[in-house]
Amino acid sequence: MTTERTPTIARMYDYYLGGTENLDVDREAADQVIAAVPDVVAGIRQNRAFLGRAVRFLAAEAGIRQFIDIGAGLPTQGNVHEIAHGVDPAARVVYVDFDPEVVAHAGALLAREPNAVAIEGDVRRPEELLAHPRLRELVDLDRPLAILMIAVVHFIPDAEDPAGVVGRYRDALPGGSYLALTHATADGIPADAASDAMDVYRSGVTPLYLRRRERVAAQLAGLTLVEPGLVNVAEWRPDASKPDDPKLMFYGAVGRR
Ligand SMILES: C[S@@+](CC[C@H](N)C(=O)[O-])C[C@H]1O[C@@H](n2cnc3c(N)ncnc32)[C@H](O)[C@@H]1O
Repeated sequence: MTTERTPTIARMYDYYLGGTENLDVDREAADQVIAAVPDVVAGIRQNRAFLGRAVRFLAAEAGIRQFIDIGAGLPTQGNVHEIAHGVDPAARVVYVDFDPEVVAHAGALLAREPNAVAIEGDVRRPEELLAHPRLRELVDLDRPLAILMIAVVHFIPDAEDPAGVVGRYRDALPGGSYLALTHATADGIPADAASDAMDVYRSGVTPLYLRRRERVAAQLAGLTLVEPGLVNVAEWRPDASKPDDPKLMFYGAVGRR
């Protein structure tokens, strides 16, 4: 791992998930967030579990065989290609992240994997991202695909129009495609706790924008949401791992174009 002294979103997320790809600076920043919002760890694990259920739904029930995972994060357990390949080894997966360290790690993991690649790209630049030559080698944008935007849109500032950005991906999707999205929210936590958590990201990492349900719903305009719609990620097609009383930390939905 790099020895740089600035925490990153990806390494902090890895720490919340119980991974080992993090440094003291990441753990210190993440511990400040946990002190402000103790349920953040459970919420993040539910977000990751949503990703798994959504990909399984898309591959096994919706028949999707091409995935673009934007804001993919450091490789952990239950990666998109592992789930998709459990349904069809020919499924194609492109991981995208703006953090070169994430792309290097994912690239090393995927070195012997013909149907998955990791590329550098910024979610805020949809046209550039979708035009990336390595993405185009693997994904046919004229055939149904799924775009995954899991725990990444809350890093897009209001000034950069998050709903507009998501809408540009929606508009690029051919019919029969899907977009899965999760977004952190302060709807379930006290305002001062949310503000303390956002301060940690704003002062030392990358600003984080917790948004209300109606703002997240606006990002999904123009899509037909599959049941149960936009809900607490823990309540989206839950399996046996669902906690009895899940706290609301992330909204999630899967929409069809
Ligand atoms: C919280 S992690 C989520 C990882 C994974 N999607 C998940 O939900 O399990 C967010 C990831 O998004 C990446 N990210 C943040 N802003 C981004 C941007 N503007 N463009 C691309 N990636 C971004 C971070 O580097 C990080 O790896």
